[in-house]
Amino acid sequence: MALVRMSDLLRHAHRERYAVGAYDVVDTAFLEAVLDGAESCQAPVIVSLAESHFEHFDFESLMAAAVDAARRAKVPIAIHLDHGQSLATVERAIRLGCNSVMLDASLSSLEDNIKATREIVHLARSCGVAVEGELGYVPGVEGEAAEKHPGAMQLTSLEDAERYIAETEVDCLAISVGTVHGRLRGMPQLDFERLSAINKALHIPLVIHGGTGLNDAQYRALAANGVAKINYFTGLADAAARSILEEAEDNPSPTYTALVRGVRTAIRTEVNRTCRLFGAAGRAGAALAASRPWREVEHVVVYNLRDDGSGRSEDWAAFAAQGVAALGAIPGVRGVLAGRALQKDARYHHCWLIRFAAAEVLASYRDHPDHVRYADNMFRPAAPDRITIDFELIDVLREDKESKFTPPALTSLSAKT
Ligand code: 13P
Repeated sequence: MALVRMSDLLRHAHRERYAVGAYDVVDTAFLEAVLDGAESCQAPVIVSLAESHFEHFDFESLMAAAVDAARRAKVPIAIHLDHGQSLATVERAIRLGCNSVMLDASLSSLEDNIKATREIVHLARSCGVAVEGELGYVPGVEGEAAEKHPGAMQLTSLEDAERYIAETEVDCLAISVGTVHGRLRGMPQLDFERLSAINKALHIPLVIHGGTGLNDAQYRALAANGVAKINYFTGLADAAARSILEEAEDNPSPTYTALVRGVRTAIRTEVNRTCRLFGAAGRAGAALAASRPWREVEHVVVYNLRDDGSGRSEDWAAFAAQGVAALGAIPGVRGVLAGRALQKDARYHHCWLIRFAAAEVLASYRDHPDHVRYADNMFRPAAPDRITIDFELIDVLREDKESKFTPPALTSLSAKT
């Protein structure tokens, strides 16, 4: 199985009335245990990295591990930026491999939230990436004690939600119906009447933040009323911490590896338990069949420099470095590599390998001012002899051949360099 489009995953869950667990990970032990837990009950899953946790890990390294682990997983997966704080973080998350993003503007006024979210939707759509909006305020901090509640809860109003969806066109909406992030002071009272009214009016997958600490009936009722994604972190963090404390109690002079030995099993068990409660267990096959695979695109350009002396290797390196700087910063570009042929008599002497997050980037890259400027002023005049081909990258060993979706025809989109 493989990475899939988050919007498809959530639409399936919404239609079939179950919720996909979206688990924040803070290191590779969490990452591995979350995937292991989802695989143990054949549940689709969302791996989330929250900006509020960035002080605990290197975003770039953990994203690389998440993308790699997701590709090897045996259940369908999406990778999500949770509680992004700025457009810059969202751009960076897409560059690093997130195929779903959230900008948290839930403490802003409705006008400002809509304005900021529209900007994110515009950016994300041009990269094929899904967007989660949030309306209403869920207080608290993931994984922290109940005292860390910076503001009062604001329940989502139906009227605001209708306007927000019409004006932002987000793929899914996080709403506030009584949950709280982090550890709880008691059992939250959820406003199911409000949830049901919002679900009936909006017809889009809804998201619950602060998923830890509800009872079984509440989880089931959330999924039955349009919640297709439940964010869950504190329950995993507390299970991991309990395991470490128990190890420390039994062992007066524990080594680090002894202390963390039980962490993965503790998290895996909690993921398995919650996937079952959310109704996601056993859904991996059906969710995969209903979801388009998330495929990156390699934009390959082979070229010769004009025979005017600029083909000397030191000139080429400087020329290529300018290209890497100009093209690598365009949204949706995952990476830019410049290459030189090893064979002296090769038909083409140089290449660009430019990795796009998804096929949608072909059009937005082609029209991006940085690309137009570099291509028109630098590259095309210097390299008139060239071939450009866009390759959709297919995980032929893992992508399920049963998937119903075929990629759209892209002839008209070619991202000429
Ligand atoms: P909990 O930490 O309360 O489970 O909430 C997680 C969350 O909402 C992440 O966005």
